Amino acid sequence: MSENKKKKVLLVGGTGFLGPVLVEELVLAGFQVICGVRNMEKAGRQIAFPGVKLLKVDMNKDLESDVWLARLKEHDIDVVVNNVGIVNSFGGQSLENVNVTAPMALFKAMRSYHGSQKNRQGGDVLRIIQISTTGVDWPDCHKIPYPASKQKLEEQLSSLKDLPYVIVRPNVVYEPERGNLLLEQIAKIPIIFYVGNELIQPIHNREIAIGIARLLMKKDPVEQTILWATGPVAMTWKQVFAMSSAALEKSQIAYCPVPLKAAQFVTMLIQKLPKKILYNFGILYKMDTDTMYMMTRGTTASNKEWLDATGLQPIRLEDTYREYKKGTKAYNSFIQSIRDGSA
Ligand SMILES: NC(=O)c1ccc[n+]([C@@H]2O[C@H](COP(=O)([O-])OP(=O)(O)OC[C@H]3O[C@@H](n4cnc5c(N)ncnc54)[C@H](OP(=O)(O)O)[C@@H]3O)[C@@H](O)[C@H]2O)c1
Repeated sequence: MSENKKKKVLLVGGTGFLGPVLVEELVLAGFQVICGVRNMEKAGRQIAFPGVKLLKVDMNKDLESDVWLARLKEHDIDVVVNNVGIVNSFGGQSLENVNVTAPMALFKAMRSYHGSQKNRQGGDVLRIIQISTTGVDWPDCHKIPYPASKQKLEEQLSSLKDLPYVIVRPNVVYEPERGNLLLEQIAKIPIIFYVGNELIQPIHNREIAIGIARLLMKKDPVEQTILWATGPVAMTWKQVFAMSSAALEKSQIAYCPVPLKAAQFVTMLIQKLPKKILYNFGILYKMDTDTMYMMTRGTTASNKEWLDATGLQPIRLEDTYREYKKGTKAYNSFIQSIRDGSA
């Protein structure tokens, strides 16, 4: 642990859903965390962990390696975790800039910085963790801007042969009271509307964050590897809602499948709402026609390599909501048991 204390992690995208949980798990694991954030005020509210430094960045604008190299040098960064990813160009952002060009400029800067330091540091160590997504393997991925951009970055990163990296591809991510997929709130709705019947493997936010901290702690890290961070059980959206509701001891009157076209029509109407309303309810601006389409697409993969690499016990969705229902103390000790446990 004392070695980890010295290791400086630049986490780009420390706010939002996964970001603050990543910060917390990295801090708990003993890393020195520097968070690259675009909104210092939001970061001040969301990232309240001792010793964490905030660094203002903008992945829509910081497209040159020189900008990143100066930051890496100033903070003497050992490893970068890129958690930034946008699903659409809401708010005037460019998917190409945010999801591809800026992170690639950062990765190239890491290669320049550590290429020259290799001998001093005594060999290759893991330098980059890129948070990608499932869907990058769909045959028609290039037609859907979000996974297409993530796939493009993966390809470009993998061309940097001399840079030790791990690409993590999370499936749908959930956690009670966090993010947009609030299953504990959905469970209270008597009639649940859903799209698609394909299988997904939802994964707990903490499983990803603790897993990433463990990848960085490994003495002999996995390098230039792709890990599918998928949950332990494949299920349809309907099963996701039914399973979490049952664990929370809630029941529904009915489940209504909605045709994709109808769901897309509703999201088109939502997108016509004033920008301020869309921004205040993050879920709304993310709900575009592409997102609806992606929800109808199945995406499953074995989590074996992820579990082998992280030594984690997978977190089951029904266990999560059963423990959550028992109250904060039970839920926190459930998460602590994941932190402490090994496969
Ligand atoms: N949630 C899922 O189910 C899921 C599934 C698969 C993959 N992923 C991937 O996991 C990562 C985290 O997802 P999430 O659900 O936590 O998303 P999120 O809540 O929207 O967080 C995205 C992060 O990117 C930051 N960001 C956006 N534009 C930026 C810019 N121009 N400059 C700097 N930072 C910028 C956001 O900052 P602000 O807070 O200021 O907006 C936030 O920190 C993303 O890469 C996503 O693609 C998520």
